[in-house]
Amino acid sequence: DVKPDVKWLGTPINELKRMPECGRPLPPLKDVPGQHTVMIRTDLLQNGEVPVPYPTKFIDTWDDVHVKMPFSSSNLFPVEDKNKSRWHLIKETLSKKITTALELKNAILKYSASQAKKWDFTALQIYCTKVLDPDAAEHLFGSLLPDMVQLALRGSELCTKPIPLLKAGMNHSITMSQEQVACLLANAFFCTFPRRNSRKTEYYNYPDINFVRLFEGSSSKKIEKLKTLMCYFRSVTEQKPTGLVTFTRKRLDKPINWKSSQTPLTKLHITCQGTIEGGGYGMLQVDFANRFVGGGVTSSGLVQEEIRFLINPELIVSRLFTEALDHNECLIITGTQQYSKYKGYAQTYQWGGSHQDTTPRDGWQRRCTEIVAIDALQFRNFLEQFHPERVNRELNKAYCGFARPEEQSQNLSAVATGNWGCGVFGGDPHLKAMLQMLAAAEAGRDIVYFTFGDSQLMTDVHKMHSFLTQRNISVGDIYGLLGQYYSSVCKSCLSQRPDVSLYSFIYQQVSSSLAPDDSDRNSARQ
Ligand code: AR6
Repeated sequence: DVKPDVKWLGTPINELKRMPECGRPLPPLKDVPGQHTVMIRTDLLQNGEVPVPYPTKFIDTWDDVHVKMPFSSSNLFPVEDKNKSRWHLIKETLSKKITTALELKNAILKYSASQAKKWDFTALQIYCTKVLDPDAAEHLFGSLLPDMVQLALRGSELCTKPIPLLKAGMNHSITMSQEQVACLLANAFFCTFPRRNSRKTEYYNYPDINFVRLFEGSSSKKIEKLKTLMCYFRSVTEQKPTGLVTFTRKRLDKPINWKSSQTPLTKLHITCQGTIEGGGYGMLQVDFANRFVGGGVTSSGLVQEEIRFLINPELIVSRLFTEALDHNECLIITGTQQYSKYKGYAQTYQWGGSHQDTTPRDGWQRRCTEIVAIDALQFRNFLEQFHPERVNRELNKAYCGFARPEEQSQNLSAVATGNWGCGVFGGDPHLKAMLQMLAAAEAGRDIVYFTFGDSQLMTDVHKMHSFLTQRNISVGDIYGLLGQYYSSVCKSCLSQRPDVSLYSFIYQQVSSSLAPDDSDRNSARQ
């Protein structure tokens, strides 16, 4: 029953809510100790103006609750039996003229610890000598790199307020300017962040931030990543961005009692065309994340999350301060800008040129682009994902990402999502679509589902959604059916895959329990 000319099903997409239209006015932006760290002068914030850092003078901290900054006076390295300022050495080294990839490599190695000697810069070398034509290489060494150095070296002037680490269990937001983000990313490019080059430091539970691994190897994936990121640096050094970005770490305090939920399903638009970042503009866009946010963006990964972090590179700075996500946590990033287009996916990914982002800004001067990082579980055994404990975990994770208890349902945009956890992480899209429908319903949001070309999945999910909504089957009822499916089909299953699919099981159970002349089957609905 798949019709090739049908590209979408369900509620027309223009009937679903987007930001900024659906949102309510924001309260004034302000720093709230213990809740929201704001790194700029809110009183001077003005549309089209570069925000002013706050405070005026750099506060130098070096402790285990803030990011250790490269320009801190405590950032030392040993020379003979004395400790010298590493920032001084970084400034001295990067300020000298750099004219080749080899010189850039040697500069980075000069202020990096001894283990850096084994770092490989092949991709950088190829990019500079084989990919860029001579004019472009001249622009890189003559103009772009010097501008990036200047931006990085303005660190203590731009990022004056200590950046709190968003540690496991915290509910906390950080708002900074796009210029501050650019400065931090320039430092990441030059690999200046201290204590971040080895897993054996206090940052063992944080993602990598220094770009070392971006430069290694000779795969075309690395080259395309470099093209994409250099496009970002070109843009921000040629014209200073004027907006803000907010990073919010959020924990779900009390898990939902799914079993007893009477909530009806919300609206669904499902399409086999388009992408979350394209068709889902103004909606809450799901990042199919790793618990280390950004996954392999600065190394070898190149699927949904990494691509999003490459085309919206401001997302990458979250890696500087976001500890690995726990089961009941998410990270929400509001205000990032798209700087690049792309073609292809994974092995075939290609940078597609620069992108002019015209997304409107909100009252805090943030682009109305809200992205939520939620990490699915990785399944090696297909049946395991139907286990009630796994189902609960995924439901609570998605709900944590989607729910905004402080907002009313009418002010919430739809969730733009798709095959979360169903690529690299091996999940079943039929199950994951169902779980995300339950979580979105419980959070009071409609859902736009991008099947990424899969028209069969589009048809199947739409049919199931219509079937359930026509019969007023609640979130709790569906949750009960999932539990029954596990105990009667999966638990006793001897093969790798269940003999009866989840959706066939649901059709059977609901149809037989609703048949009026078959009263003893009603137990299926409890
Ligand atoms: N829009 C809509 N759907 C998409 C898009 C897009 N732009 N891109 C991909 N898909 P995957 P996972 C679909 O494998 O399984 C990363 O390394 C497409 O059908 O990225 O949750 C993270 O850092 C694809 O197969 O997500 C984690 O380590 C499916 O979404 C890990 O991958 C899943 O995309 C997460 O793996």
